[in-house]
Amino acid sequence: MFAVYAAEPNREDPLAALVVGERPEPEVPDGWVPVSVRAASVNMHDLWTLRGVGIKPEQFPMILGCDGAGVLPDGTEVVIHSVIGDPNWVGDETLDPRRTLLTEKHQGTFAETVVVPARNAVPKPAGLSFTEAACMGTAWLTAYRMLFVKSGLRPGQTMLVQGASGGVSTALVELGRAAGMRVWVTGRSEEKRKLAERLGAHETFEPGTRLPERVDAVFETVGKATWSHSMKSLKPGGTVVISGATSGDATAAELQRLFFLQLRVVGSTMGTRDELVDLLRFCEQSGVRPQIGAELPMDRAEEGLRNMLEGETAGKIVLTR
Ligand SMILES: NC(=O)c1ccc[n+]([C@@H]2O[C@H](COP(=O)([O-])OP(=O)(O)OC[C@H]3O[C@@H](n4cnc5c(N)ncnc54)[C@H](OP(=O)(O)O)[C@@H]3O)[C@@H](O)[C@H]2O)c1
Repeated sequence: MFAVYAAEPNREDPLAALVVGERPEPEVPDGWVPVSVRAASVNMHDLWTLRGVGIKPEQFPMILGCDGAGVLPDGTEVVIHSVIGDPNWVGDETLDPRRTLLTEKHQGTFAETVVVPARNAVPKPAGLSFTEAACMGTAWLTAYRMLFVKSGLRPGQTMLVQGASGGVSTALVELGRAAGMRVWVTGRSEEKRKLAERLGAHETFEPGTRLPERVDAVFETVGKATWSHSMKSLKPGGTVVISGATSGDATAAELQRLFFLQLRVVGSTMGTRDELVDLLRFCEQSGVRPQIGAELPMDRAEEGLRNMLEGETAGKIVLTR
């Protein structure tokens, strides 16, 4: 079948590891279902996979794509939940030490067909297109959990999102605005800050700017480049929720500030199936839809991955079939 995959890891030149070609038809184990993929989105995780980060060398070749939307053999339209846990695990599957995300052990969604456990094919609301639904399983689920499960923010409080144009950042801005937060955003260019404003940000700033006042929570996916600013921007007792470190993690932890101001640092990764169902309902009922910066046919995946690598994002990059 048609597939976009990482042949073998390449740490220095991730796109050199990319192949747009053919992979064998997948087998469908008992309790798993084949999903005919209609759309899937590009995530930073795909670049990590091409680099060989977070994946064992013996797992290559690996089809990329850790989210998507498609159709079951009986015609049911579904959204893929990417967190695949031990079937006997009870409770929050993101805490299962044996859980993997699609493309870490099991083949991903940049293909004609992806095979997932039946519980990981979640009914797609009719109000969301395949392209929109394809954004939900990774970036949007991560943003939903950061904001609604981990941050402890109440409507009316102030949140700072580090980064304006990324998949997780744009989701945080849209979800925060819809939920009644005061949304502040840093962005690396005027164009990116304008995008955040169009999506609902109340105020935007250049990275590292001293803010008009300190905020209740900061949402981090950037890491080294913004961490110090995040810690300095928090009110006493404030919370930083972090789900990524795109620019690296070699930075001062700001420990004195952390204990003296009694800050909370909260890690967050993906979300549960139940949270994905709630996110889909939230979007359907609120009218919130993901900001899609580019929609490309799947055989142009390299273009989408290159744009992400070079920071040329304006929301989600979606690949369609
Ligand atoms: N833990 C999880 O479950 C999970 C899930 C999804 C993503 N993540 C992580 O979250 C991060 C973002 O993922 P994504 O898919 O949203 O990526 P993306 O779409 O490429 O977005 C990258 C974001 O980083 C911002 N950024 C600011 N300063 C940067 C710098 N110096 N270098 C690079 N980027 C900078 C960009 O802001 P501008 O708009 O200002 O350019 C942009 O908002 C990645 O590290 C990813 O691995 C984690």
